[in-house]
Amino acid sequence: MKIVRTIKDMQNISDRFRAEGKKISLVPTMGYFHEGHLSLMKRGKELADIVITTLFVNPTQFSPNEDLDKYPRDFDRDRKLAENAGADFLFFPDVKEMYPDGFDLRINIGGVTSEFEGKSRPTHFSGVATVVAKLFLATNPHIALFGQKDYQQTLVVRKLNHDLNFNIDIAVSPTIREADGLAMSSRNKYLSAEHRGKATILFKALEAGRLVIESGERDRKIINAHIHKTLRTVSEIRIDYACTVDAGTLGVQDKFDAGQKVVILLACYLGKTRLIDNALITIPAKFPPVAMT
Ligand code: PAJ
Repeated sequence: MKIVRTIKDMQNISDRFRAEGKKISLVPTMGYFHEGHLSLMKRGKELADIVITTLFVNPTQFSPNEDLDKYPRDFDRDRKLAENAGADFLFFPDVKEMYPDGFDLRINIGGVTSEFEGKSRPTHFSGVATVVAKLFLATNPHIALFGQKDYQQTLVVRKLNHDLNFNIDIAVSPTIREADGLAMSSRNKYLSAEHRGKATILFKALEAGRLVIESGERDRKIINAHIHKTLRTVSEIRIDYACTVDAGTLGVQDKFDAGQKVVILLACYLGKTRLIDNALITIPAKFPPVAMT
């Protein structure tokens, strides 16, 4: 696997493979790899000839009171893991390369960013959209892979891709979890041993929501009440949001419709650590199918 440090070199490499008719997949990351990141690289390898992973801890998506300096980093470990997962290139620019002096662009996407992560972290998605656009232009991929773990981010990326005509296939891969259900995240390492044990409550709350939906409940308030009740069984948990919304628009609706795709979105604090998770669920038909005899 080759390490690439400049945008110009990355663009030249991508042009060369495109000229040879090779298909390129892109996996954008901020490093400190876990199985979630590696699953995207492995899928990228299945879908294309060349996998470019990018590793850039993007300052513009952190607000001043967030964990940019503390964000975990281990380049040597990441390099080995990415290579083993099948990455062909690791694009690893420094901050000056991505944001040279005088850089003053922000891409603001409306609609899907107005609630949830967008509300709790008001500058976050403009930082994500700006850096992802730059990474698309640096690597010029045919396919870009993202994790369902950051569900709202996948909607932002799809909108960016559509509105700026990138024409990239956006592939979203399922959330990879620890054995007890906790979604893998670079931030899990901030959890104390005690909070780590309790963090599985997010997954349990998603499962409680899924169960009540699959048993026929369509009333948003009742579904959300089940989710909140489960979360509150851990007294230390602080709920930022825990809501069931339309999976396409993130719109709130009192009663969901048969066949509608919904997503349960969670963001909770355990101590100082903020954890997010989600579950995609299809509202079942009104009358459960009659068993054939
Ligand atoms: P990062 O948090 O490093 O995540 C990189 C990619 O890995 C994202 O698409 C994310 O959704 C995915 N991912 C994280 N945890 C996962 C899990 N448990 N299972 C499956 N996929 C998982 O997301 C970012 O970086 C940044 O915002 C970025 C898009 C790189 C822009 O800076």
